[in-house]
Amino acid sequence: MNTETSYLGLKLKNPLIVGSCGLTNSVENIKELEKNGAAAVVLKSIFEEEILMEYYATVKNADSDELKYLDYYDYKIKQNNVQKYIELIKDTKKAVDIPVIASINCTSSHEWTYFTKKIEEAGADALELNIFMMPYMRDKTGTDNEKIYFDIIEKVKSQVKIPVSLKMSHYFANLGRFIERLSEKVDALVLFNRFYSPDFDIDNEKLFAGHIYSSKFEMHIPLRWIAMTHGHLHSDIAASTGIHSGADVIKMLLAGADATEIVTTIYQHGPGKIKSMLVELENYMKKHNYNSISDFKGKLSLKKSDNPSAFYRVQFMKYSDFEK
Ligand SMILES: Cc1cc2nc3c(=O)[nH]c(=O)nc-3n(C[C@H](O)[C@H](O)[C@H](O)COP(=O)(O)O)c2cc1C
Repeated sequence: MNTETSYLGLKLKNPLIVGSCGLTNSVENIKELEKNGAAAVVLKSIFEEEILMEYYATVKNADSDELKYLDYYDYKIKQNNVQKYIELIKDTKKAVDIPVIASINCTSSHEWTYFTKKIEEAGADALELNIFMMPYMRDKTGTDNEKIYFDIIEKVKSQVKIPVSLKMSHYFANLGRFIERLSEKVDALVLFNRFYSPDFDIDNEKLFAGHIYSSKFEMHIPLRWIAMTHGHLHSDIAASTGIHSGADVIKMLLAGADATEIVTTIYQHGPGKIKSMLVELENYMKKHNYNSISDFKGKLSLKKSDNPSAFYRVQFMKYSDFEK
């Protein structure tokens, strides 16, 4: 039995990638993730602002007006985050055999994109762009917002030869069509990102950060969209958010994902969770006599479904609709 999959042009020994988070921020942690079976890692993101600070401070000049608009300039430059990120890539590549995917959080196609070349030179196997603009901009339309995505991708793709993926949200009008259009421009899409959300403390009447970790029920959003778009896309797909068990990985593959990114379940159960998720996957494949992932990838997608209306139905008319 073979659990290999191809993602971003990389051969992965299985479909379990550890997504970008604090656990992928050190060589020691990443070695531990590899030891437990992770097929690849996405490094903790570096932020566009951090790269821009270096750009204005060193590539341009330190007195540049732009610097005045960047928060925490002194603090961050002293931290030397950009150089540290390059070293993290180089050191991780020396220490592990699995693919290492760098990650950048960005909101514009400004000068920071020069840095992607440095990431490539440092040896990253691929680059994941985490793009998000709050979809509430009074001076912009949805079309303006979408254009920013295409501008960033075009600029980054013109700088590097390594594969580029886009980790995106689901806050778009005509989401399915937008995913299709993006898939023509990147090597992979990560569906979907999950955000830090505000919550209210009603006793003190204050705002605080809501659930940092996902719940397993959140996996149904990516599941629907991966299943619905499977067969219409030009890029690979990684499923992300709410994947907490081997069964969840299998569901995402049945929907049509090429790989999965997991984070919360590793925070909650430790790196050993990867091993047990892989055992679940192998047992499933044995039980169904599948020799490879391609034997069942996309089997429950909309294109192959004998009940396509189940994907389109969103309102509960009567609860028994899905029991037919
Ligand atoms: C503590 C923590 C830090 C994270 N940092 C990043 C980050 O730097 N960049 C990023 O793209 N996503 C980051 N994420 C989001 C995760 O990569 C992932 O998209 C999200 O947690 C949903 O996956 P999950 O349900 O498996 O947790 C972070 C998540 C957590 C919990």
